[in-house]
Amino acid sequence: MFKYIGAKSRLLKTLIPAILDANKAEYREPFAGSGKVFTELLKHHQFEKVWINDKFPAVASFWAAVHRHPDDLVKELGKVKMWRDQPISLDDYTARRKEALALDRLPSVKTDLLYHAVNLFVVMMQTFDGNLLAGSPSRTVDRWHVPNYEKKIVELAGHMNKSKTTITAGDFEPLLSEGDAVVYCDPPYWSQGDGLYPHTFTADDHFRLSKGLRNSKSRWLVSYDVHDVVLGLYSWADVGRVRMEYSSSRKFWWAKVERVKIKYSAQGRNKWAEELLIRG
Ligand SMILES: C[S@@+](CC[C@H](N)C(=O)[O-])C[C@H]1O[C@@H](n2cnc3c(N)ncnc32)[C@H](O)[C@@H]1O
Repeated sequence: MFKYIGAKSRLLKTLIPAILDANKAEYREPFAGSGKVFTELLKHHQFEKVWINDKFPAVASFWAAVHRHPDDLVKELGKVKMWRDQPISLDDYTARRKEALALDRLPSVKTDLLYHAVNLFVVMMQTFDGNLLAGSPSRTVDRWHVPNYEKKIVELAGHMNKSKTTITAGDFEPLLSEGDAVVYCDPPYWSQGDGLYPHTFTADDHFRLSKGLRNSKSRWLVSYDVHDVVLGLYSWADVGRVRMEYSSSRKFWWAKVERVKIKYSAQGRNKWAEELLIRG
């Protein structure tokens, strides 16, 4: 729905069938970010229950507003006229970004929730590469049209309402430890992961995640950067690698690996990278 660093668009064709393959009545996503995965997944399948979480409250506010007040959210977004034609000013951008970063919990009052959802959306539409911490606005706004977003928001709210949906802004652990679901985890990467998001992921968090998944009763998938530390953390699990094409002819494949090094290559205009996909 909005630009976000680390969004998993290129993995969707691999992830969606793998998640559905688990055949569970409940879906959980502890690191939702821009929602690339769950928004696509819910188009394909109706779960009895859905639990979406991100520790960054501004992001969680947007998803909670889509879920609880889709019509009001569309109306409020429609009022943001200036950036339909031109970017917001640097001062406005800086102030809105500061507010998004300062929000420390999911607002319980409807008007506050809508305010922060709109604020986050406006900021992300103009944030270069979707990296809020870099703090540099692009000169242009992502191409968007109110009717398109209206449709996307209303349709997604419909999908969410067919399931019993919960949106939270907390730590990932409860989503692993309670219940029996299929869980897709997209944590910050091991390399660089602590400089890209307002909520940093420490070495201890990576260990906690590995331990939490090992002890979880749920079926799960986790995507990661290819790194020896990650391979070590998941030496007990089913580790695969997925090649992500940066071209129009996207090809995805899964291969079992013991150890792989990250590879980037340019063959003509096709670049590709590899990502670990680990399951349990
Ligand atoms: C790689 S991004 C997820 C991107 C998402 N899959 C997408 O397609 O946009 C990782 C997310 O983890 C969140 N995060 C960081 N620490 C967390 C924690 N302890 N618990 C839950 N979420 C956390 C960040 O706020 C960030 O949105």
